Amino acid sequence: MNDHMNQEAQHGEKPVKRREMSRRQFLSYTLGGAGAFMGAGMLFPMIRFAVDPVLQPKSEAEWVKVVEESQITEVPKSFKFQVHQVDGWYESDPELEAWIARDASGKIFALNPTCKHLGCTVNWNGSPQFKDQYYCPCHGAHYTIDGQALAVAPLPLDEYQVKVENGFVYVGQLGPNTRV
Ligand code: FES
Repeated sequence: MNDHMNQEAQHGEKPVKRREMSRRQFLSYTLGGAGAFMGAGMLFPMIRFAVDPVLQPKSEAEWVKVVEESQITEVPKSFKFQVHQVDGWYESDPELEAWIARDASGKIFALNPTCKHLGCTVNWNGSPQFKDQYYCPCHGAHYTIDGQALAVAPLPLDEYQVKVENGFVYVGQLGPNTRV
């Protein structure tokens, strides 16, 4: 025993054991860390691609120019128009329909022809039995000119927002009927 160890033994201290990393441990830590880093680097763009559109705020429905204001009378007429829809990562341009008319005060309004019973399409004066009403051929629902349900359907026809600008009628967001 040398003098130093003799001194430790005399003071009752244990020799300090140094833990050293083996070559195998060093390699597995290094490769494991690098692998995890690269994996995260590849995974992040994929997760972002899948989730990003869902996190984007939904844009307000845009106004769609449909028809010249002068063509609108107190008798409802059907007009078709296209809207651009973005739902997550799916984009489409479906064709929609609105029945547009003026009320007694001259105000223009637009109704959606989707029947509130089971979703068939209603038509103005669609049945001689129900004159000056919207009629659904599927199960006989009928509605007033304002879209109020008179039979079969539980709710009035939905209504589009409408604005008139520079002599043209524009339709916007579809929502619950505000006229009945
Ligand atoms: S879907 Fe219109 S009456 Fe049933």
